[in-house]
Amino acid sequence: MTSPAIGCSGAPLATIDSDLLIVPWFEGEGPSAVAAVDLATGGEIARALASGEFAAHPYDLFVATVTDRAWRARRIALVGAGATGGFSSDLVRKLASSAGAAVRQRRAARAAFVLRGDSQPSDALPEFAQAVAEGLTLSEFNVGSYKTTEPAPAPAPVWIIVVPGGDGVARASGAAARGRLLGECCNLARGFANEPGNTLTPREFSRRCEVLATEAGVSVEILDEHQIEKLGMGLLLGVARGSSEPPRLMVFRHEPPGAPVGPVLGLVGKGITFDTGGISIKPADGMERMKDDMAGGAAVACAMRAIGLLKAPIRVIGVVPTTENMPGGRAIKPGDVLTSASGKTVEVINTDAEGRLVLGDGLWYARQLGATHLVDIATLTGACIVALGKITSGIFGAPMPWVEQVRRVADRAGDRVWPLPLFDEYRDQLKSDIADIMNTGGRPASSITAAMFIKEFAGGLPWAHLDIAGTAWADEARPYLPKGPSGVGVRTLAELAFTSGDWT
Ligand code: BES
Ligand code: MN
Ligand code: ZN
Repeated sequence: MTSPAIGCSGAPLATIDSDLLIVPWFEGEGPSAVAAVDLATGGEIARALASGEFAAHPYDLFVATVTDRAWRARRIALVGAGATGGFSSDLVRKLASSAGAAVRQRRAARAAFVLRGDSQPSDALPEFAQAVAEGLTLSEFNVGSYKTTEPAPAPAPVWIIVVPGGDGVARASGAAARGRLLGECCNLARGFANEPGNTLTPREFSRRCEVLATEAGVSVEILDEHQIEKLGMGLLLGVARGSSEPPRLMVFRHEPPGAPVGPVLGLVGKGITFDTGGISIKPADGMERMKDDMAGGAAVACAMRAIGLLKAPIRVIGVVPTTENMPGGRAIKPGDVLTSASGKTVEVINTDAEGRLVLGDGLWYARQLGATHLVDIATLTGACIVALGKITSGIFGAPMPWVEQVRRVADRAGDRVWPLPLFDEYRDQLKSDIADIMNTGGRPASSITAAMFIKEFAGGLPWAHLDIAGTAWADEARPYLPKGPSGVGVRTLAELAFTSGDWT
């Protein structure tokens, strides 16, 4: 998968050759805010602003035909950017994504997005150019991959980002390439989450991830059920028992020549290719959505691809335990006790709390392989949706500086996260009469007790846990994100590997 590069140009707007020239527009701006665009459209923009047809609210779109023969663009699309003070790389990423969707609807073959010289501080130009490239690329994702009767979606247009002249082009180009690549890796992760459970079995998921990571120079090992058993991963094997599809453990290693011995980032992603709940079976209503229960695993695999292609300066280990959670005749039952690879015993109260089980063995393995700093990512708890809705992922962990570090990176990457507490008292809810720990802690604070469970396997290393149950899938379309998989976490995990200078 290689899409054409997104070029940057510092040429005057009149000389940009495109079917659609997208220009962000702020609330309250008059027709002369961007030189000559109003004239180029024969005064259409002035008319729309005066009548209130276009008020520049975020994501509003106003398209006008270019009438000036001297211009090379066919049409100009103003995209509302809201109040002047509110412009940010996060907003411009979303504007680019929503405008990109409009460009594809119009089946434009060539399109340009204008980063105005006056819309961001000059030193932030690379950050903004990267965000635009990410947004444009995200707009190219297609959810209807199995449709046979509708016309094929428009091919992605050739994109140009127009930046301020001078040294703007040089400063923005590399950043745009980085954004393009990160956007593509997000789209790959979205493709995995979108893929149905019958095609994306644990074996198929592993095979496809192996290809993607290997292409990026990342070394990949796929452990089969026998190797998993040799490692003693009773939690992963326990979850897999109910399925006739065997489990896999994906192991990715990014080891750049000359990298320091430490720190070593360890990324662990939940890879449940379908979650029926097991014997504690889920209600039928909405169960089809549980095909995306590997979104965390996909985020890790696709972040590893980005880390390899972008040549992160540190060693990174990715671990993705993958299995189905099915109610077969040999499935684990409530009350069963499993022994984890770390030696801890777990009483399974609810077989639907399977994510934390596979993550427990996954985190242990990342530590065995030498990880010094851990992040796990998982569609883990329905309760996280109750707490934070569909907009924000939960972040948990210890110690706080590490959690804060991951949070800062996520903010910049445009993945919204918010912390929830892990006070020691919550640990009491997981006390088992028969084993070391139970896999559920009852209804109160169940996102927190899920995180407390995982913490038991982090071995005291700096560890952060991202609960993406609410954010991995959009149930309703937003201007910047269609209904379907979001690719949450990919950019955060990849960018994190470039920030080790700030780690304590
Ligand atoms: N994969 C689910 C969590 C989930 C629920 C993700 C809804 C997205 C939407 C997870 O494996 C699960 O079933 N969690 C249970 C835990 C409970 C049994 C303690 C839950 O959240 O209900
Ligand atoms: Mn479950
Ligand atoms: Zn699950």
